[in-house]
Amino acid sequence: MNKKDLPIGIFDSGAGGLTVLKEIKKILPSEDIVYLGDTAHLPYGAKSKSTIIKLSISNILFLLEKKVKLIIVACNSTSSVALPLIKNFFGVPILGVVEAGVEAVLDRKAKRIGIIGTSATIGSMSYQNLIKKRRPKAKIIAASCPLFVPLVEEGWVDSSVTELVAKTYLKGFKGKVDLLILGCTHYPLLKKVISKVLDKTELIDSAEEVATKTRDILKKSNLLKSKKRGKISFFLTDNSPVFPKLAELVLKRKFKPTVVSNI
Ligand code: DGL
Repeated sequence: MNKKDLPIGIFDSGAGGLTVLKEIKKILPSEDIVYLGDTAHLPYGAKSKSTIIKLSISNILFLLEKKVKLIIVACNSTSSVALPLIKNFFGVPILGVVEAGVEAVLDRKAKRIGIIGTSATIGSMSYQNLIKKRRPKAKIIAASCPLFVPLVEEGWVDSSVTELVAKTYLKGFKGKVDLLILGCTHYPLLKKVISKVLDKTELIDSAEEVATKTRDILKKSNLLKSKKRGKISFFLTDNSPVFPKLAELVLKRKFKPTVVSNI
């Protein structure tokens, strides 16, 4: 098989990574995609570094068995905590959402930068350190917003409860940041509510950014598949009632995932 025709692998702790898959499909419609959601071990955002590393390695090995040409780590918690330590050991390019999000920030002039994510992402200082390294004078405000993930998984993306939670979490950002990084797979689904609360703040969607970066890397390595519409295969490590809900919300389609064991 021509290497160009091999699929792209995407993994996430669960269904949240569908926001990344959606962006990949938008700009690379011909690519085949293998998506793995580690629903047996969700959520990653509250787990320790060593657990996230172990689970990430299992996910990567699973995708390598599917002969993927490139792996996208859709999960911000994994991209923050595990990826810098393990990404060079598997013989295929592995891209995370954090670096892509930071590059998008650096493309803009803003000096007052907000970051929101899970406790693992914010606690790792991944976004903060990468931005500070490249723009030392940047003023950064970061906060974890743990309730956002369950609210999205409940489908409450546009409810008054979610707006109240957003107002509470984002109080410290109002008038103090020019842009806000949505540093979690689930947060792009809350763009409407977040924009309502922080009306003059540009929202940076790491999912969109990693999609553009993927296209650039595949193009540069002459690995873009250009013919036919690509197909998507979904694998989960446990049954998940959330997956069909989010698949409909994000992709506007129903999918039938295959349940597998990744360890
Ligand atoms: N996928 C995770 C992230 O982007 C959110 C859900 C979880 O905590 O596993 O950080």
